[in-house]
Amino acid sequence: MTTKKINRRGFLRTSTMIGMGTAMGLTGFPLMTHSQTRQSAILGGKRSFSGTWPGWPVIGTPEEQELLKVLHSGKWCRLGSPTAPRFEGEFSRMTGSGHALATSSGTTALLTMLGALDIGPGDEVILPPYTFIATYNVIVHNYALPIFVDTDIESFQIDAAKIESAITDNTRVLMPVHIGGSPYNVDEVMKIAGKYNLPVVEDACQAHFAEWKGKCVGNFGLGGAFSFQASKNLNSGEGGAIITNDEAFHRKCYSFHHQGQGSDSASLEPGTGTRGSNLRLTEFQAAILLAQMTRIPEQIKKRSENAAYLTELLSQIPGITPAKLYPGVTRSAYHLYMFRYNKEAFAGMDRSKFVNALNAEGIPCSTGYTSLPQDPYIRNLAKNKHYLKIYGEKRMKQWLEQISCPVNDKLCGEALWFTQTMLLGNKSDMEMIAEAIRKISRDAKAINNL
Ligand SMILES: Cc1ncc(COP(=O)(O)O)c(C=O)c1O
Repeated sequence: MTTKKINRRGFLRTSTMIGMGTAMGLTGFPLMTHSQTRQSAILGGKRSFSGTWPGWPVIGTPEEQELLKVLHSGKWCRLGSPTAPRFEGEFSRMTGSGHALATSSGTTALLTMLGALDIGPGDEVILPPYTFIATYNVIVHNYALPIFVDTDIESFQIDAAKIESAITDNTRVLMPVHIGGSPYNVDEVMKIAGKYNLPVVEDACQAHFAEWKGKCVGNFGLGGAFSFQASKNLNSGEGGAIITNDEAFHRKCYSFHHQGQGSDSASLEPGTGTRGSNLRLTEFQAAILLAQMTRIPEQIKKRSENAAYLTELLSQIPGITPAKLYPGVTRSAYHLYMFRYNKEAFAGMDRSKFVNALNAEGIPCSTGYTSLPQDPYIRNLAKNKHYLKIYGEKRMKQWLEQISCPVNDKLCGEALWFTQTMLLGNKSDMEMIAEAIRKISRDAKAINNL
């Protein structure tokens, strides 16, 4: 028997007509049949989620008041002004760290720490491949060599068991990332760092107030970097911060982010390093952050409760595997809700088709990062004239061969994300997400044939 293939538009038209013909009520208005309400939206059924997801950012009177205070003070730069120091005090209190330093972005927070450590040509820095490009860029900005360590597919985090074999005599820093806002295996990373006496710069740009064994991330290494870019759980459009419990390191970071000068006042006094830049946060950004921070405890609670509930629901669906949290994680920031999709459990439906079907249900979903070691932007480093001059052709060829991360490649083909703002919705919204996926799973064959 041959079945005639119908395209998506044809299918929708046919299914709508069938629905109209069979479900005309006594009043003459078409009624939804039971099967139609339970059918996937991409096949013509009712959307699982027809409301609106929480907007971002959340703003109100506190933001207005703090911003106006700065505006009317006429003090818009942090030098000699009160707002950035007030923010630093509050951020340091909330993260339980000895010192905080506000920076112009998460990227410049990382750059500042590498600058304070005087990282440069010939140095190797270890990083995970499952991260935002900024983690890589700050290393290359210093003409150091980025060394990727493959991913633990279960957690999406750096595979700590593979770090040690990547360490060489040239390794200067370990720069793991708490990706998605969930802590990597902090104990394992710190054990290796201790064994080789290497500083750890934590990329906590997505992990505001995430905790490992009850302590905020960013406190375990020499320093931790945070981003306040617009999508982040704490947001001032752009912005960043460093936290550290090492006073001398804090001073070095201050100096680097302030043109290499030593003073925290408006004057320029000699610093202790030999390099620097202007990477300062403005008073306006600090004002917004202070106001936004009053909303943090409630938002943390909501995200944590919703994420736990979503995990409970999604774990029951074959082919959907939420990212594992290590036993030491006492709180994820859930900047991203990350999970893996196994197409075999969905009648072989490609991930992109699954995303389309989910979008049709009113559920936004992203496929996340593509594999950094496969990215031409990164692979072209092997041809960069400065790198060839510093490291030589043989080393750069070897580097290109070494950067492959097969587990990460596999993960990048299976990963899916929901954003943190969706976790600010209601418990019933989490049920709608699960219901939508269950519907798609039931209809997988038909969707795959569209
Ligand atoms: C893991 C990670 N590192 C670094 C950054 C850089 O932060 P920013 O965008 O504030 O420069 C980001 C921002 O998205 C990030 O997600």
